[in-house]
Amino acid sequence: MPQSDHSSSLFSAFDLGGLKVNNRLALAPMTRSKAGPERLANPLIAEYYAQRASAGLVITEATTVSAQGNGYLNTPGIYTDEMGDAWRQVTEAVHAKGGRIFLQLWHTGRASHSEFHDGAQPVSASAIRIEGDGVHTPSGKQDYEVPRALETGELKGVVADYVSAAERAKAAGFDGVEIHAANGYLLDQFLQSKTNQRTDEYGSSVENRFRLLREVVEGVVAVFGGNRVAVRLAPNGMFNDMGSPDFRETFTYAAKELEAYGLAYLHVMDGLAFGFHEQGEPMTLEDFRAIFTGPLMANCGYDRQMSIDAVQRGAADMVAIGRPYISNPDLAERWENSWPEAPLSEPTSWYTLEQVAAGFTDYPVYEAGGK
Ligand SMILES: Cc1cc2nc3c(=O)[nH]c(=O)nc-3n(C[C@H](O)[C@H](O)[C@H](O)COP(=O)(O)O)c2cc1C
Repeated sequence: MPQSDHSSSLFSAFDLGGLKVNNRLALAPMTRSKAGPERLANPLIAEYYAQRASAGLVITEATTVSAQGNGYLNTPGIYTDEMGDAWRQVTEAVHAKGGRIFLQLWHTGRASHSEFHDGAQPVSASAIRIEGDGVHTPSGKQDYEVPRALETGELKGVVADYVSAAERAKAAGFDGVEIHAANGYLLDQFLQSKTNQRTDEYGSSVENRFRLLREVVEGVVAVFGGNRVAVRLAPNGMFNDMGSPDFRETFTYAAKELEAYGLAYLHVMDGLAFGFHEQGEPMTLEDFRAIFTGPLMANCGYDRQMSIDAVQRGAADMVAIGRPYISNPDLAERWENSWPEAPLSEPTSWYTLEQVAAGFTDYPVYEAGGK
């Protein structure tokens, strides 16, 4: 089982379950909607990730494991051979720059719309709708719909989709995969009491709510080995209308159980900068360190100094950076050399569907005296 090597520098190399990463920074997974309606990785996406390959670890945008898992326009998938093959150009481009890359595996569950499913309802743990902002569909922004609770007998098929996706990711040359169990998507919908009111063996008790994630982890670990599999959790998050009164009990249990799989890392969205549910005192990295001995990755709202401090005091082994990385492809070099950062990008530029460089791959690297 990987043990954390505490008290180090953000800019020092790290042994991530046998995979050497050059520094403790990760490119946080970020959906950018550039894969076209065919949901295929392409040369522009390869260039975007290669530009950010000096992060110790690149984590791709969330990538759907099945057509049922789709819920956003033009996000990539990995549920056909063509999709798997398209990802190879991305892993090759990142590896050519000396980088490491994990694919994030995704099923949106209720954060979807029937327009993505030929009129069929989106699925979830229970028939509970997202309250809040709408969903962008092929015909424009729509209200969220009440999802259909997956039948018990369908869940083995969901697990099998994750396993097939992991097999394709391995064949495409990914160094590992991160299972997205955060931000109110399907696995989080099963995990949390707010969205899971099932009475079968996948609901009610925390053990049962964790069952689908456990089965997915076990299936994916069988493909990649535990040291190449990560899990992302959002104990404090409210995104997609999440936040359960028993969040502390739920996420403590999940982290304790995940300990057994010798994961590459546990990715904890501990910071509150992506929204906080205010159901109690937020869970901290220290809470997770006390129950999970493998590598921990921190995220949400970390700037340079916070990242340096988190690694130095041993609270985190790695720190994932999202928004600053959009406009700073060379963020690792900028932070290491104390070079200035480019301003954050405009949120209106994040999910533009056109497959063009503007707002995606046209952010320059820092040149001393150049700007
Ligand atoms: C444009 C954008 C897209 C995102 N897409 C994903 C995603 O695909 N998967 C995921 O787990 N989180 C996603 N997130 C959340 C980020 O990974 C990260 O948790 C969040 O931006 C907070 O980190 P930051 O403060 O460093 O930006 C996204 C965030 C942004 C801004």
